[in-house]
Amino acid sequence: MQSQSLQVQKANLYEVQSAGQELSSLEDGEVLMKIEKYALTTNNITYAVSGSKLRYWDFFPADDTWGIIPAWGFGEVIESKHPDVPVGERCYGYFPMSSHLKAKPIKVNEAGFRDGIAHRNPLPPIYNYYMRVNNNPAFHPSMEDFMPIIQPLFTTSFLIYHFLKEQSFFEAEQVVLTSASSKTGLALAFMLSQHKAVDGKKIVGLTSPSNVEFVKSVGYYDEVIEYDNYATELAQEGTVIVDFAGKTQLLEDMGAQLADHLKHIALIGITDWKSTRGFRGVPKSEFFFAPTHLQNKYKEWGSQKANNMINQALGGFILDSKKLIEIAYVDDMDQLRSLYLEMLDGKVDPKMGYIVRPNLP
Ligand SMILES: NC(=O)c1ccc[n+]([C@@H]2O[C@H](COP(=O)([O-])OP(=O)(O)OC[C@H]3O[C@@H](n4cnc5c(N)ncnc54)[C@H](OP(=O)(O)O)[C@@H]3O)[C@@H](O)[C@H]2O)c1
Repeated sequence: MQSQSLQVQKANLYEVQSAGQELSSLEDGEVLMKIEKYALTTNNITYAVSGSKLRYWDFFPADDTWGIIPAWGFGEVIESKHPDVPVGERCYGYFPMSSHLKAKPIKVNEAGFRDGIAHRNPLPPIYNYYMRVNNNPAFHPSMEDFMPIIQPLFTTSFLIYHFLKEQSFFEAEQVVLTSASSKTGLALAFMLSQHKAVDGKKIVGLTSPSNVEFVKSVGYYDEVIEYDNYATELAQEGTVIVDFAGKTQLLEDMGAQLADHLKHIALIGITDWKSTRGFRGVPKSEFFFAPTHLQNKYKEWGSQKANNMINQALGGFILDSKKLIEIAYVDDMDQLRSLYLEMLDGKVDPKMGYIVRPNLP
């Protein structure tokens, strides 16, 4: 049988094709999953932009020219040659932007399994794990469409919050978030606002003119500033910048203006990928890679405690997200292609949360 995918040209992300890949029949220990739905946000665009450097093309390889972008979502086992992962099992995890995925479950237990397929072994383990959805309290049906949109991004922001807290916020008075309208940005602002009474840090969002009203309306930020106005509106006081946008020039200029008031820049994302030209000249900056921080927290707190803490906080943010974010479904390849190209150019309304359903007739 064939798995149908959206493939993008690695050297030119504007070139897109729908292509089928032949899946060989299952060997002992393997399962075939039908991909029910996955989320598409700018995070997936970042996977493509850094596909070669951070090895995102290696999860679900197509060929040297074309890549398949990974996405978070749900799949259902439709064929199984694994005794402990039966047909009908629903799983949550990292999938290709495709219709099907063949996996080789290892380390199977009640909570989930790992895909032990050889080419995924060298990649960060967080991405190779599939949770069994049934009987997992974190997967309440009323939250289902929000899980793939919010859960991976919220987990990142949970980790950033704890990183900042452990560093005593680098002795800063304010935390400035770029791409304040992004879901990862909103999730961090949520965490900061939840703990504001204890931490006492001002939460400042930088965003594009068209997103100012939305960012103000969520109520997490103390101040919302348009990118072009930071020079006059940003307070000259101890500052940590959490950067989701990747606008190199902006970071350098803000660093120059804040001078000694700048305490730290956490480099998280590159939503504005065309304005990114490396971060070598960006002062006091350090890349923050969530999978590494999550592994560290699993070691420090134990995976069960860490997951419980994340899921508890995630539940609160999903409840808020249901008021802030409107779900829209993408049910065919033409729609998907158009949405992907709009997202590449940042033309997507931050209020929208997109769920792709690759197997609807
Ligand atoms: N380091 C890690 O481990 C890690 C983990 C998770 C996410 N991230 C990164 O965090 C970033 C946010 O991801 P998300 O999925 O939360 O994003 P999202 O919700 O889809 O964000 C949409 C927002 O990003 C900005 N944007 C998007 N495309 C743009 C473009 N082409 N040009 C300029 N601005 C653009 C706009 O915000 P503004 O107008 O407010 O700028 C837009 O409203 C991504 O780069 C993602 O990869 C990193």
